[in-house]
Amino acid sequence: MSTGSGKSGSGRSGSGRPGTTKTRTTRFSGRGLHNRVKTAKGRKTSSKMWLERQLNDPYVAEAKARGYRSRAAFKLLELDSMFGLLKKGGRVVDLGAAPGGWTQVAVDAVGAGKGPKGGQVVAIDIQGMDPVQGATVILQDFMDPDAPDRIKDALTGPADLVLSDMAAPATGHRQTDHLRIMGLCEAAFDFACEVLAPGGGFVAKVLKGGTENELLAQMKRRFAVVKHAKPPASRADSAESYVVATGFRSDPEA
Ligand SMILES: C[S@@+](CC[C@H](N)C(=O)[O-])C[C@H]1O[C@@H](n2cnc3c(N)ncnc32)[C@H](O)[C@@H]1O
Repeated sequence: MSTGSGKSGSGRSGSGRPGTTKTRTTRFSGRGLHNRVKTAKGRKTSSKMWLERQLNDPYVAEAKARGYRSRAAFKLLELDSMFGLLKKGGRVVDLGAAPGGWTQVAVDAVGAGKGPKGGQVVAIDIQGMDPVQGATVILQDFMDPDAPDRIKDALTGPADLVLSDMAAPATGHRQTDHLRIMGLCEAAFDFACEVLAPGGGFVAKVLKGGTENELLAQMKRRFAVVKHAKPPASRADSAESYVVATGFRSDPEA
């Protein structure tokens, strides 16, 4: 079920593909990328296609140019442009952070590690990633029983934003993939409700079909605004989109 696209419901502009994007943070041109990959002996057609797509993807080129570790960095920049999520001095939790594109964007935006007025970023991933200066990185499965406490211990106070870009490796079986990602989303939401400051925000990756009704209803009880958004950097042929919730209510009955 969908609550509507962030494009229509957002207060800030952020539409268009590379080359047409008008946002302050993601404006760039993808012209001139027409790379073909020769089929090398031993290279499967699928990996040739993947490589060709990478080489011709303007977001990949721009991520490299700007020193981002992943093209995914632009998804967070675009979501931030649409919803105004990242604030100087804010405290951010980044779930499913590797290789670290979102962590880099969050550290820059909140000024993590920049003295008393700077913010904080705590990132976790089941896979190792290189350190990001200014961020605390935890190497652990977020679904481990003690993972939430490790993040809480690292936080210096209530969080302003909880991000989840967590995705289990795709099985190709639509229902299984959907259930797995919804399990991660639900765990991220429960955690967000424990650590967010009043007024805080929550972003989580979901798959086509949006967030399940029950979870969406719970989110609407805890947040003033809940929307679905597919940022331009999210590939059109990908089933992913994001649920973006803002205005956390620490007391749902209030
Ligand atoms: C799409 S990638 C994240 C990309 C990242 N946002 C970036 O900007 O570079 C999804 C990540 O979720 C992580 N992940 C999946 N399940 C997880 C879990 N249970 N605990 C922690 N991380 C998990 C994966 O290891 C993977 O690195």
